[in-house]
Amino acid sequence: MPASLEDVRSYYDKNTPLFLRFGSSPETQTIHRSLWPKGILRLEDALAVSNNLVLEEAKTLSLSNPRIADLGCGVGATLFHVLAGLGGGRGVGVTLSAVQARLAESTRQHLSFSNLAFLQADFHHVPLSGLFDLVYSIEAFIHSQNPQEYLSEVSRLLKPGGRLILLDDFYVPNQSDYAQRWLKAYKDGWYVPNMQTSDETIASALTVGLTLRETKLFTPNLRLRALPDSLAKFVLWLGNKLPQNHPIVPSMLGSMALQQCLKAGWIEYRWLVFEKN
Ligand SMILES: C[S@@+](CC[C@H](N)C(=O)[O-])C[C@H]1O[C@@H](n2cnc3c(N)ncnc32)[C@H](O)[C@@H]1O
Repeated sequence: MPASLEDVRSYYDKNTPLFLRFGSSPETQTIHRSLWPKGILRLEDALAVSNNLVLEEAKTLSLSNPRIADLGCGVGATLFHVLAGLGGGRGVGVTLSAVQARLAESTRQHLSFSNLAFLQADFHHVPLSGLFDLVYSIEAFIHSQNPQEYLSEVSRLLKPGGRLILLDDFYVPNQSDYAQRWLKAYKDGWYVPNMQTSDETIASALTVGLTLRETKLFTPNLRLRALPDSLAKFVLWLGNKLPQNHPIVPSMLGSMALQQCLKAGWIEYRWLVFEKN
């Protein structure tokens, strides 16, 4: 059964404290992958690379007070980074997780950001009127049960000329049973209801008035730690025997499966920028 909205919510409510403690850094508070382009040596900097990419894209809009929405904002790390870097603008972070929305709000108060708000909501139905200049999702689009609905919602939220950024995993078609087994382990472990190719996403976006401006492959900038195949299969087998009543167990197996998929090229980690017509 593909992951439901409730599965995804519960996954983040239960795992967020662990993700922040073991998968992030106190400095960045991100819940996303580190990127290691040339010259990046510290984990804190590697975790901030995607935040900086969003910031640079926001700057190209050349607006004094842009309105920005982060759909799937985690605990708000990217929004704090982008608004601080712009020295202005207004932001809204949307997360399905009540735990994340609470943490983001308490950081907002602590950092005294009056131009930011966080909402616990489903990004397929955002309870806000339109007219955003920039909407982005980092590692959140994969959790969409209905990518077409997500894209329509983004199109509704954006001003003409506004932009959407997606940084996420995309499927690379592969029919082998072997690849499908690892992909399933990734989707089950990380609560990924479905997975599109980047071409499918680009084609869907076009139907709702979002035209591709830029695409870049970032898989080469990840530090992959794929295990030797037989060892990975053994760990997956063993992991599936463990009690699964806390979603950190499937999450760890999903992480391992993702490394195998990225290394083999069955999934790619890609940056896409669209413009609203
Ligand atoms: C891997 S985390 C990424 C968090 C954040 N973008 C970051 O880079 O730190 C995925 C995020 O997607 C959010 N998410 C997943 N499905 C969602 C939905 N239907 N509506 C809103 N947020 C959703 C989760 O709540 C979580 O915040």
